[in-house]
Amino acid sequence: MSVKEQFCLRSIPKPLWDWLEDTAHARRLNINEVIVEFLDSVRSSSPDPLLFEPAPKLIQSSPKSIPFRFIDLFAGIGGFRLALSKLGGECVFTSEWDKFSQKTYASFYGDMPHGDINEVDPESIPDHDILAAGFPCQPFSIAGVSKKQSLGQAHGFQCERQGNLFFRICDIVDVKRPPVLMLENVKNLRSHDKGKTWAIIKQELESRDYVVNAEIIDACYWVPQHRERFIIVCFDKHVFGDSVNFEYPDLSGRTKPKFREILEEKPDDKYILTDHLWNYLQQYAAKHKAKGNGFGFGMTDLDGISRTISARYYKDGSEILIPRGKGKNPRRLTIVEAARLMGFGELVTTREDMPVSDTQAYKQFGNAVVPAVVKAVGEKVIEVMQDHHRQATNGCFLKGRADAQVIELKHVPKKSSRKKPAKQSPKSMKAKSTKRSELQNA
Ligand SMILES: C[S@@+](CC[C@H](N)C(=O)[O-])C[C@H]1O[C@@H](n2cnc3c(N)ncnc32)[C@H](O)[C@@H]1O
Repeated sequence: MSVKEQFCLRSIPKPLWDWLEDTAHARRLNINEVIVEFLDSVRSSSPDPLLFEPAPKLIQSSPKSIPFRFIDLFAGIGGFRLALSKLGGECVFTSEWDKFSQKTYASFYGDMPHGDINEVDPESIPDHDILAAGFPCQPFSIAGVSKKQSLGQAHGFQCERQGNLFFRICDIVDVKRPPVLMLENVKNLRSHDKGKTWAIIKQELESRDYVVNAEIIDACYWVPQHRERFIIVCFDKHVFGDSVNFEYPDLSGRTKPKFREILEEKPDDKYILTDHLWNYLQQYAAKHKAKGNGFGFGMTDLDGISRTISARYYKDGSEILIPRGKGKNPRRLTIVEAARLMGFGELVTTREDMPVSDTQAYKQFGNAVVPAVVKAVGEKVIEVMQDHHRQATNGCFLKGRADAQVIELKHVPKKSSRKKPAKQSPKSMKAKSTKRSELQNA
């Protein structure tokens, strides 16, 4: 065989390699034969196989992204990090205080997050274009609120440990003035405390001269899971002006992936429910059904989507059970399946890719944001950033900036590029802290 007739494949992604191995094994072929057979069938199946998207016409092409910097607050396992990095962003600061999430984050992105955000001086945070934050949702989530109420604890902003963290974001915004904010929380944030909580958050952002957009988005269009989250996107009016042409992704006509697509072929038996737990869940469901309410386990339709995976999934897995056939106990998601269900499948191709216990892994996935949702919204944000850049310069990416700098150097004395925060008088700081404590007691 001549050299021309041979080719070599490099950097095969792990899932593709696994598929190749499985296919070769199942068909009793070697991998080379599988690839050749595959190429041959593509060649002969149709004169013009639609394997690839048609190449965009040069004249219509626009760059999918621009270089930008972002920070990842309340980072968890980095749903924002994964998505915004894919869009060309460079992460310049991360904060996450949970040591297990830090471990996973470091193993995913090679970057150890800073700890408690309350301990970080906002001045020390590098400049950035996008501030991303999925601030803690427990004080606002339905489950979190009812748990806190039953324990006689404060919820919402009054929850001292976690309810105030939104205001920490405000502190950073005051000092750093990020042009764009991308915030994420549970759907219930919008209706918590009869809408007062959201009204306060919106007002705080608007009073800082941001245009505020908010929408509930269901991740079911990207992953086979019903997961509604409140996605808030804000644009600094001082940068983008008062009216910003931003739209959330259009989901009409999008199909939903099927739950069976995320299943492993050979899940470990340890994920099968014990007789004891399965009996308990069935009895519990029957008891509540008799009372006329719908609590109970969620047996997932393999051709549909699952319920929302929550941080409590590790307890009994009851919200997402996987049927194993008549007369057999169902099982819960494996760690690899949980990762896929949350859209982290590319980072977790085997159990070993998750450096923490099953309990911690489920908690981390249950708390995370689906990266594909952030990516879809991020693409729309980048369109706005690109438009703004085009309008603010002569349309060139570097040339416009270079000319602007030359003009600046010629006419203006050299100054630091970093904006200093407006100095606050002790009087205005006092007024601010009184306002904040009023809000927290609202
Ligand atoms: C709703 S989760 C965000 C998850 C994240 N978006 C992701 O994709 O994994 C909120 C995170 O904030 C972290 N957190 C809570 N209080 C914090 C604090 N004071 N400083 C830093 N992180 C904190 C929690 O440990 C949790 O991981």
